[in-house]
Amino acid sequence: MPLGTDTVVGVVGAGAMGAGIAQVAATRGHSVVLADQSRSAIDHARDGHAKALARDVEKGRLTREQADGALARLRYVAGIGAAQSSEFSACGIIIEAIVERLGSKQELFAALERLVSPDAVLATNTSSLAVVAIGGGCKHPGRVIGIHFFNPAPVMPLVEIVPALTTDPEVVESVRTLIDTWGKTAVVAADTPGFIVNRIARPFYGESLRILEEGIADCATIDWAMRELAGFKMGPFELMDFIGNDVNYAVTCSIFEAMFHDPRYRPALTQRRLVEAGRLGRKTQRGYYDYHDGAARPEPHTDRAVGQVICDRVLAMLINEAVDALYLRVASAKDIELSMTKGVNYPKGLLAWGDEIGAATVLARLDALQAEYGDDRYRPSLLLRKLVRESRRILA
Ligand code: NAI
Repeated sequence: MPLGTDTVVGVVGAGAMGAGIAQVAATRGHSVVLADQSRSAIDHARDGHAKALARDVEKGRLTREQADGALARLRYVAGIGAAQSSEFSACGIIIEAIVERLGSKQELFAALERLVSPDAVLATNTSSLAVVAIGGGCKHPGRVIGIHFFNPAPVMPLVEIVPALTTDPEVVESVRTLIDTWGKTAVVAADTPGFIVNRIARPFYGESLRILEEGIADCATIDWAMRELAGFKMGPFELMDFIGNDVNYAVTCSIFEAMFHDPRYRPALTQRRLVEAGRLGRKTQRGYYDYHDGAARPEPHTDRAVGQVICDRVLAMLINEAVDALYLRVASAKDIELSMTKGVNYPKGLLAWGDEIGAATVLARLDALQAEYGDDRYRPSLLLRKLVRESRRILA
């Protein structure tokens, strides 16, 4: 079923993500029903929308009429049950953005199935659960799909579309068209842990943490190297402090578990200790860095040779992860490149970066690390090895 501008969009969960997704849909001309079990979450989302759209007008991103139109198209509903059935039965698609708990999501999907029309699409914004498991309890799992936005949804261009094993191909197509009309960059990811971005980005944090733990460099120096020498917008430690160490650690643990404890995704004790100490990052004013007023920011040791060692090691791991995702058909090469540049603002696509450095050089670095550490964490992707053996580039 096509999902045009006349499709009513339902969003369940009015937290950071749900409110943002509702704002995107309303701004793009849809009537939107935003529901949450909590009245205060609904009130908070309504206030947030008024402020965000007023700011869009101030900054010239929207005209006053466009902003007023979007606000008029947003309906706020407290509760998800039979009493709200008329609100949901009008929706052509419902995007779920509630708490990241499998049982809660399964329960919600089963309840929604009783309220929506038979051909309505049911989508989840989960970042770490299997889409197939969320749809598992549904009578019609063919209409269940993952649509993974990035935070903040109105700003971040990337959206990962995640068909489950059970999703109907027509649902994938109509969702892709819908996301295109919302002006977002849609990529298709296999229903595998972390999808594209959260999987491939793991070594940015994990390998930097290992370098820190081994005493090769401190946080400020690693951040400096990744920013100034490799060109990332933020270094790994400032980024983990920004995301929240609790959130970042939970994502790592969830992927490590879901990957059957593959050492490539092993979490770091250093980060766990920070979480245990309540040093969650900017939101608690203390993480790897101290954000209290007047706190001194440590200076990096700007030794380019050490910086290069750091960049070479983290980049080899990132490129390996991207090549392995390609090998295991998590996504197409094009979508892998788009994901890392649009989803997490990497300065270059990792596959192209691998070609620039040279697949043979990347492989040699990984082989050397694996030999030195005796740790499967540095295991090169079979595809990387194969490409080097055949003297081929990563991107055809
Ligand atoms: P949040 O905690 O800000 O909001 C969740 C909202 O869901 C709350 O308002 C809560 O009242 C409501 N809720 C919880 N259980 C409910 C239920 N059974 N029925 C109705 N409403 C319910 O969470 P956030 O950050 O917006 O995340 C939501 C989802 O989006 C999660 O699955 C998360 O993994 C995913 N996600 C989060 C991202 C982020 O950066 N925060 C990025 C991409 C995805």
